[in-house]
Amino acid sequence: MDGSPLPTSAIPGPKRMSVVGGIWEQVKFDRDPVRYMYDLRSRYGDLTRFQTRAGTMLVAFGPEYNRQLHQETDLFHSRPFVLPGGLKTAQHRLRQSIFSLNEAEHKRMRHQLLPVFQRSRMDVHQHPIRGHVETALAAWRPGQVRDLHRDMHLMVWGVVRDLLYGLDDDTASEDLHHGMEHWMFQTFSPWVRAFPFNLPFTPYARMQLDARRLERKFLAIMRERRAGGCAGSDALSALLRFRTAEGKEVPVEELVGHALILFLVAYETTGNTLAWTLFLLSQFPQAQHDVLDELAAVGPNATYEQIDQLPALARVLKESTRLLPAVPYSRRLAARAGVFGRYEIPERTRVIFSHYMTHHMPEIYEHPERFAPARWDRIKPSPAEFLPFGAGPRTCLGSSLAQCIIKLAIAKILPRWKLDVVPHTRVDRLMGISLGPKHGIPVVLSKQDRDLRKSPVTGNIRDMVELDHPEPARRVRAAA
Ligand code: HEM
Repeated sequence: MDGSPLPTSAIPGPKRMSVVGGIWEQVKFDRDPVRYMYDLRSRYGDLTRFQTRAGTMLVAFGPEYNRQLHQETDLFHSRPFVLPGGLKTAQHRLRQSIFSLNEAEHKRMRHQLLPVFQRSRMDVHQHPIRGHVETALAAWRPGQVRDLHRDMHLMVWGVVRDLLYGLDDDTASEDLHHGMEHWMFQTFSPWVRAFPFNLPFTPYARMQLDARRLERKFLAIMRERRAGGCAGSDALSALLRFRTAEGKEVPVEELVGHALILFLVAYETTGNTLAWTLFLLSQFPQAQHDVLDELAAVGPNATYEQIDQLPALARVLKESTRLLPAVPYSRRLAARAGVFGRYEIPERTRVIFSHYMTHHMPEIYEHPERFAPARWDRIKPSPAEFLPFGAGPRTCLGSSLAQCIIKLAIAKILPRWKLDVVPHTRVDRLMGISLGPKHGIPVVLSKQDRDLRKSPVTGNIRDMVELDHPEPARRVRAAA
């Protein structure tokens, strides 16, 4: 950096904001963060400052800021993304997770969970994952219209419940699923976030009630598991074996948020990514042909190791997570005063940064809104330029598992089923814990015959992906 750092006040942004102005900006952001971030970048560039009564907030776009935020973990702390409740409330306990730990405590928790998610475990995980995909497909019939998003979401929920939580009681888990969905919906509602006042009959009060119910359910599961010795290789058992720095057992009440948030991020992000990837494949027949050719070459009994090596499938998944990253933005909090880019920032500055905006920068990706899996043969972006699973010491713990689920599901579904999006469907985005389709993705099922055509769709998916762009001509495969 040249010269001495500039004061924070030199960062462009709206003038000092009133309380109402601050709430209104928050509502706009929460309703559609992608739209909001596009607007912000076109108005203020790569760094915007909001000065509110709560302090300084920055919105930072691009690899330079990403690099600093991911590497300087002593300056930039992670913070909970769930709405706060009062101290000693269930809502407060449920928001405590690995995302709220930093430095030594964070390292210890990561170390505790790492064995569950190691890549080498995928060999073991692949068999139950295939079983869950088969179960989901058992109900599919030619001619049916199904919500692809819902089906993939439920399938991934089953995998996470089984592999990460060791739960198999279907009735109890359906109840749990319902409770989690309900709480999550309230927690990420822009209106609940705008008016977080615990008054009777308000959505915020309902969220607190949901939090209490959900906490009770999780605590019952956790107490039972602990009483049983929690020796399993699943994530819940590993969490329950977590000890304080002094080696003491941690009470379940202090681990309940960890258990819940891990569960939520695991199935939400993976379900959405799988649904988006199948949607993109259905809209880009050439890319689907390439994947189908590869899958045909390895055959239906291919191991995960073989499927994981398939280049066209890998390119499609990279391109899908570039265009539609399930985590489009994240946040950090300055643990002390420091220097960010060219600017001096005060302690407790909040920073939002964006995976989505980075992935859509024309400076990094030519025609960024184009679905072009072939670009991955030419480019090798740095970890600060391509970060669907984050970067640095806080890189996603579940990335290998997520990719294993997604690739195995695609390998089972596509050779058997042709998925045609119902023509003129409206596909809009919705930001909850992750970025997904707002109204689902209705598809007509038919037996795979490789007569693939894209369907016309409407909605703000078209801001994110250039759906009408013609694909490059299909490569003719050389005769053997
Ligand atoms: C396609 C699916 C997924 C995507 C796109 C994704 C994305 C991400 C991203 C971007 C981060 C970093 C957030 C930040 O820097 O603030 C992250 C962190 C994390 N993810 Fe994932 N994730 C996925 C699946 C999973 C799964 C299946 C799990 C399993 C439980 C998981 C567990 C975690 C955990 C524990 C962290 C926090 C790591 C830490 O702070 O040390 N994720 N994920």
